[in-house]
Amino acid sequence: MYLTREEEKILAGEYGYAYSKAMEILVAIGKIYKASKLIEISSAHISGVSYKNIGEEGLKFLSSLAIEGRVRVPTTLNPAGFDTHKWKEMGINKEFVEKQMEVINIFRRMGIRPTLTCTPYYKENLPSKGEHVAWAESSAVTLINSLIGAYTNRESGISALAAALIGKTPLYGLHTPEGRQPTYTIQVKAKLRKLSEYGVLGYLIAKEMGNKIPLIKGIDNANMDMLKYLSASLATYGGTPMFHAEGLTPGYDTYEEPRDKLTIDGEDLKRGFEELRDDLDNVDMVWIGCPHASLEELKYISEVLDGKRVKRRLVITTSRVLLDEAREMGLLDNIYNAGGEIYADTCIIVSPIGEALSGVLTSSTKAYYYLKGVHKLNVYVADLDECLNYALGGN
Ligand code: F3S
Repeated sequence: MYLTREEEKILAGEYGYAYSKAMEILVAIGKIYKASKLIEISSAHISGVSYKNIGEEGLKFLSSLAIEGRVRVPTTLNPAGFDTHKWKEMGINKEFVEKQMEVINIFRRMGIRPTLTCTPYYKENLPSKGEHVAWAESSAVTLINSLIGAYTNRESGISALAAALIGKTPLYGLHTPEGRQPTYTIQVKAKLRKLSEYGVLGYLIAKEMGNKIPLIKGIDNANMDMLKYLSASLATYGGTPMFHAEGLTPGYDTYEEPRDKLTIDGEDLKRGFEELRDDLDNVDMVWIGCPHASLEELKYISEVLDGKRVKRRLVITTSRVLLDEAREMGLLDNIYNAGGEIYADTCIIVSPIGEALSGVLTSSTKAYYYLKGVHKLNVYVADLDECLNYALGGN
């Protein structure tokens, strides 16, 4: 990979350890993927924030970078292990809190905004069409490539941090037109109206075609929340970093329609739901907000819960900035009065609270994958309405 004189100096350590380490990581990735050079990025988003996931080793590595490393582009952070305002209410132990706050403060020292959300595109970090960025958090990567028309590879927490410190990323994959070429056409014949249906659609597509990039036809009425569920599912079950949706993805019509075709109808969708449903009786939490809930979702939940009381534990996760906005709009009162819990900065998967559960009802297919695969829980996927109805005591 070609390096400028300046980049070589960074690699040689002339600007200190953090930058030379970051450059070493970018060069190693560039070599693996045969990148021609580094290109400038306009933002980064970093995952691997929860102390539960990175542990002492991760903390040490980040500390070594933070002595002198400062990010060169606006950079945001994925969720941490608890709500930074409500860790007591969540039952998080003090030692974990201290370690987690140390991690967050290290990122802060490097100039990174501790947004602690997996949906920074709603408010804090929305790239524009055609911008090159370096993002981790697979659901967000797929969404911004596909709906916004930004350009990012699916970065790891470390490679996104390295890119943020240098302000550049290797030119390969989704940063190039060839790397965004669709290779499969998906014709959606099912009438999709609900968020979780988009999650199940992503699950079905990913099961068939793995990490290939699809051109999806028949979802041109989908909104950002729907595509958020689709993106999370495609990225989780197939590792797909982007899709082209006819009528939605900027530049989708510059590619020829792939000949390989798959049709998904209502029956397929039904089968998909069945595959993502364990035992509903063995559920001790209803969880909404994977990826973090939008303002629209909070508004809807608030309307449904107006004047009611939940009979089963209901937890909603969202970003701090949307939580504050929802509070100002008066949307939280109905949820709290109904007995619902709302947490920002975190989610059930990256927080230790998931470990104490036995079963979860959720609107998210991504949550199904991790709660079942990592936490070994009993999980049942249903739509938002069904989740709320169940929390209110229905069956
Ligand atoms: Fe976000 Fe946690 Fe789901 S980070 S995408 S809410 S697993």
